[in-house]
Amino acid sequence: MTNPSPAASGQSVASAFSKISLSRALADTYRAVRDETERRAAPLSPEDQLIQSMPDASPAKWHRAHTTWFFEQFLLGPHRPGYKVFHPDYAYLFNSYYVSAGPRHTRAQRGHLTRPSADEVTAYRQYVDAEMIAFLENADEATLTAIAPLMEVGFNHEQQHQELMHTDILHAFAQNPIPPAYDASWALPQPHRTGEASSESWASLTEGIHTIGYQGDGFHFDNEKPAHRALVGPVKIARHLVTNREWLAFMENGGYRTATLWLMDGFAAVEREGWEAPGHWRFIDDRWHIMTLTGLKPVDPDDAVCHISYYEADAFARWSGKHLPTEMEWEVAARAGLLDDAYGIVWQWTRSSYAPYPGYRAIEGALGEYNGKFMVNQYVLRGSSIATPEGHARVSYRNFFYPHHRWQFTGLRLADYAN
Ligand SMILES: [Fe+2]
Repeated sequence: MTNPSPAASGQSVASAFSKISLSRALADTYRAVRDETERRAAPLSPEDQLIQSMPDASPAKWHRAHTTWFFEQFLLGPHRPGYKVFHPDYAYLFNSYYVSAGPRHTRAQRGHLTRPSADEVTAYRQYVDAEMIAFLENADEATLTAIAPLMEVGFNHEQQHQELMHTDILHAFAQNPIPPAYDASWALPQPHRTGEASSESWASLTEGIHTIGYQGDGFHFDNEKPAHRALVGPVKIARHLVTNREWLAFMENGGYRTATLWLMDGFAAVEREGWEAPGHWRFIDDRWHIMTLTGLKPVDPDDAVCHISYYEADAFARWSGKHLPTEMEWEVAARAGLLDDAYGIVWQWTRSSYAPYPGYRAIEGALGEYNGKFMVNQYVLRGSSIATPEGHARVSYRNFFYPHHRWQFTGLRLADYAN
């Protein structure tokens, strides 16, 4: 998805450490990130790791290999003298979308790759891990300083794929009539509530000029910059996430059948896909159930609604007599501490198109493809979800998906422009 400004993000890391401590810090973070990927893969059999249940999702085995290729392609190849790739075909198989990095396997056919096996992908990961650790332990200070920004991209890139490992396997398991549990202890955290319909449930932003975007000197993706000033408000933004209880009322009121509530493309998606409820919902024995990472369970009215598209979020907002917030409104409210559950449950759709901030330029080279070329036809989501790895998101973080996508952990909060 995304890419930082390596010069800006790495400078702070490199300058904060001596050679020995920078080497150790990079190696420790490398191990921790790589271990988390394997921890997420551990409950999956080799058969589980192969499945690709739709073109937008990727097999877990592919995620494990692609994140490994990233370090091989952008760190070991260019920076470790004498490095020999693990297998000459893997760059073709596991390059995702980097045109500058060469030809690649068709995305929609990643699930066709019975070979290399899951065990061979494990061996690939172990080979690259050993090379990376040896590289970090032996590199001189100038090299470590130079590669620190790329390392941070690699860490954050792999964390993005860790989230996708959860959302993609959930989508696959949700297609199974015998709903498997990925993790028996998994649960969506219950959201806070601030008294529905009370004045405390809305935070007011008066009109003002605010700075939007990343303003620190740590890691960030390039799409969060440049920080710039924007006119925001007046607006009221819901402190709370929309719940299943509210969504069930929308459904019972004919929300999915009332074309006038929908954008034209949205209602076309409803008819084409046969949507009558959020993603992964099933109607069984007179009540709605939802497929989760802990298996199939009755829909809990108090949970945040999850697995909804932009189209559905927009229709729900219209039915409510409200709107979706812009990403600027979300960021200003979040910075002021006005939002409950901004992070860790569901990403929240905004009405902002995923576009470059004023002054944005993609960086030179292959990593310039990370973010900039996706800035069309998508919408921004803010916050983070239960599947987002610890420490990955921040207040200026911009996630983005196409308006029909709903297999991520996506929900919403409302905004109100009425006086
Ligand atoms: Fe990737």
